[in-house]
Amino acid sequence: MLDIGPQGIVHGTTLTILNAGRKYLGLNELSGKVFVTSGLGGMSGAQPKASTIAGCISVTAEVDLKAATKRLNQGWVDVLTSDLDEVMTNVKEARSHKKVLSIAYHGNVVDLWEKFVAEPELLVELGSDQTSCHNVFGGGYYPAGVSFEQANEIMHKDPEEFKRLVQASLRRQVKAISALASRGMRFWDYGNAFLFEASRAGADVMKDATHFKYPSYVQDIMGDIFSLGFGPFRWVCTSGKSEDLALTDRVAGDICSSLASKSNERSKKQYEDNLKWIEQAGEHKLVVGSQARILYSDHIGRSAIASAFNELVKEGKVAGPIVISRDHHDVSGTDSPYRETSNIEDGSQFTSDMAVQNFVGDAIRTATWVALHNGGGVGVGMAINGGHGLVLDGTEEAGANARSMLYWDVLNGVARRAFSGNENAEFTIEEAMKLNPQLEITLPVKCDDSVLHGLFH
Ligand SMILES: NC(=O)c1ccc[n+]([C@@H]2O[C@H](COP(=O)([O-])OP(=O)(O)OC[C@H]3O[C@@H](n4cnc5c(N)ncnc54)[C@H](O)[C@@H]3O)[C@@H](O)[C@H]2O)c1
Repeated sequence: MLDIGPQGIVHGTTLTILNAGRKYLGLNELSGKVFVTSGLGGMSGAQPKASTIAGCISVTAEVDLKAATKRLNQGWVDVLTSDLDEVMTNVKEARSHKKVLSIAYHGNVVDLWEKFVAEPELLVELGSDQTSCHNVFGGGYYPAGVSFEQANEIMHKDPEEFKRLVQASLRRQVKAISALASRGMRFWDYGNAFLFEASRAGADVMKDATHFKYPSYVQDIMGDIFSLGFGPFRWVCTSGKSEDLALTDRVAGDICSSLASKSNERSKKQYEDNLKWIEQAGEHKLVVGSQARILYSDHIGRSAIASAFNELVKEGKVAGPIVISRDHHDVSGTDSPYRETSNIEDGSQFTSDMAVQNFVGDAIRTATWVALHNGGGVGVGMAINGGHGLVLDGTEEAGANARSMLYWDVLNGVARRAFSGNENAEFTIEEAMKLNPQLEITLPVKCDDSVLHGLFH
């Protein structure tokens, strides 16, 4: 079995935080800035580690002491306390010294948000939530005002009362978040159905009948990155040797660095973030099992890295073939109208064509294997994922197949996003057409909204 371990979620969360800082605060680096969130579970537990790599201060609330202790023992949080005053003292000290620090608060996130509201000074710049709101009444979200143990008992003995407590808690949480947002904090939904459940609870989260007041991370943050063609490229050294992975890290880092120096302004920042990641990847010790790595790259980067890896195999510099793949949470890999395709705003985000086309196109362009399947977690019944794997065995054929497949695998989604009118995607596909005169992509013909409205009113 090929196993990427926790680095997929750590890398993706790091990029989300870095790009949130860039987009919402206009900052390319986050020292002394504070990110407040919740959840130290399966996926959410990546948040403090990612915040540290991104160079900010994080405070993450977790009601389950077992989950919080696991992250402390693992070294993914620096401090664990159930004392809110201690949290605040730590935050103020880290801010004043611009010290990178991850704080876990053992308690309910509602109490944490209200503590920040009570402070005269705004001590938080970025905020989110990663409780399991996709399962909000079944233990995914713990209500404020009762202990973790009491909440579990009420959930089993009196589900109606539990539902009432959860919805009251969501309303309190949104009230605190809104108070801080009105003072300048930027909040986003983390793909966990938080805003959706808060709206069902009657919390003040709607801008109008169909739009939330706060953005969703895939739509607003990752969507911009996907539209540039950047997504979670992965590889595995089948030799199982850590020195082979270290060599591939160096080779991929050199390629990132060289592409950053030649790249346009939009993609340059992405290459720089990814260079930072790959340079530190070894020291963060995120490999568990397979000697595997994840690195966000665009079609140019993925192709260059795959070609260089194929050469390493051919020249015997690594002790076995290298397999390339990617996460489904990518430019073209998933159709999911409330997540990955949510920034395709021409109405076609509700169709399920892109992942299927990728699955078929990757197969034709000789992927070693392909997959087409339903999404997991929030994606069950709401997403289609297409994926691939390709073995680089050092032959010329493998190198050519990889370049052909990766070109399709990334640019199919960019073309799709461009046709819906996404500015980053249009820019990227126009650049791709300049580099390859054989590539012909239909671009959208835009009309002024006022002309369109005039036709119907
Ligand atoms: N950001 C992403 O990239 C991403 C990816 C996949 C899934 N998700 C979504 O994020 C959510 C979390 O995923 P997970 O795997 O970490 O789930 P999880 O259930 O393992 O972790 C959630 C944690 O939140 C804690 N929690 C619940 N209510 C709380 C409260 N009021 N205050 C403090 N802590 C509370 C729980 O004790 C739990 O440990 C899910 O809805 C998931 O679908 C996000």
